[in-house]
Amino acid sequence: MKARVFSGVQPSGNLHIGNYLGALGNWVRMQHDYESIFCIVDLHAVTVFQPPEELRAKILEIAALFLAAGIDPKHSSIMVQSAVPAHAELAWMLTCVTPVGWLERMTQYKAKAAAQQTVGDGLLQYPVLMAADIMLYQAAIVPVGEDQAQHLELTRDIAQRFNSLYGETFVVPQTSLPTVGARIMGLDDPTTKMSKSAAGAGHAVALLDPPDRIRKTIMRATTDSNPAVDFASLGPGVENLMNIFQAYSGWTAEQMRTHFTGMRYGDLKKQVAEMVISHLEPFQQRYRQITSDPGYVAGVLRQGAERVAPIANSTVELVKSRMGLYTEKRGLAPPSQAE
Ligand code: TRP
Repeated sequence: MKARVFSGVQPSGNLHIGNYLGALGNWVRMQHDYESIFCIVDLHAVTVFQPPEELRAKILEIAALFLAAGIDPKHSSIMVQSAVPAHAELAWMLTCVTPVGWLERMTQYKAKAAAQQTVGDGLLQYPVLMAADIMLYQAAIVPVGEDQAQHLELTRDIAQRFNSLYGETFVVPQTSLPTVGARIMGLDDPTTKMSKSAAGAGHAVALLDPPDRIRKTIMRATTDSNPAVDFASLGPGVENLMNIFQAYSGWTAEQMRTHFTGMRYGDLKKQVAEMVISHLEPFQQRYRQITSDPGYVAGVLRQGAERVAPIANSTVELVKSRMGLYTEKRGLAPPSQAE
């Protein structure tokens, strides 16, 4: 049996080239070696207010972007979190074995809470719901960026705590940070990772940006005070532009060096922009084709939810009976030894 992979993306902000080069592209390559579930985590998105119409549109957009990138719905399940109620149900059970102190320590919680006037309880529970997403499918591998490493560690802690309280129930997932895939930084600030939610033009190239906007964003990218590319002292901005070029072109380090040594930054940026555009144009064409049939994406999501729901439901059954709760199938009968 193939190992199960689970990952999630929030339907908020705009997916950008950093998401593609760091995550989505790898998922596409992984999908034949694993049983993959890609989840659009709308219940996570509503931990901060989302206008309902925008949220609905974003969910469909993300699903269509997954498809345009090459996620094959015959092999992988693309699903919406709220389509499978077991996510929320398991999250509650896990909340009850999670000390508040573990949650208050999460750096993402601290950052998000500091930016809100009133901190919703959902923001604190966010990582428990994420643990539920993963544990519900007994996923062994969770491909995420470094920024999610702390949440994955917490998932492991919660799984272990549940197992020690109620008996072996959950697979303790591996924290598998990407070994391949580029870490793309913000174009306006190459010291921070390119982010979906960072405000301001000039920060990211979104996957659906038109060519003239892509050119503008890249031409304005922050570099340094050197006049031209010098591999002996690459500033972070220039290095980031090179990483983008290299990731899209597939060039070797040697080819990069030969081609770009001594090139003026203006010319480097032009070449990076054209390289990105040459990949995004066919991608955007696939996106338009996919979305031209309004029922298609909805059908993929329905099929995804139908495929994964039985796995999720049987985990919830097991968890509830381990805890002594009432389940649809067994009522109050205890689980058998073998389970
Ligand atoms: N918290 C993740 C992020 O912001 C999204 C997410 C939710 C997720 N549930 C998940 C990622 C489960 C991996 C596995 O990127």
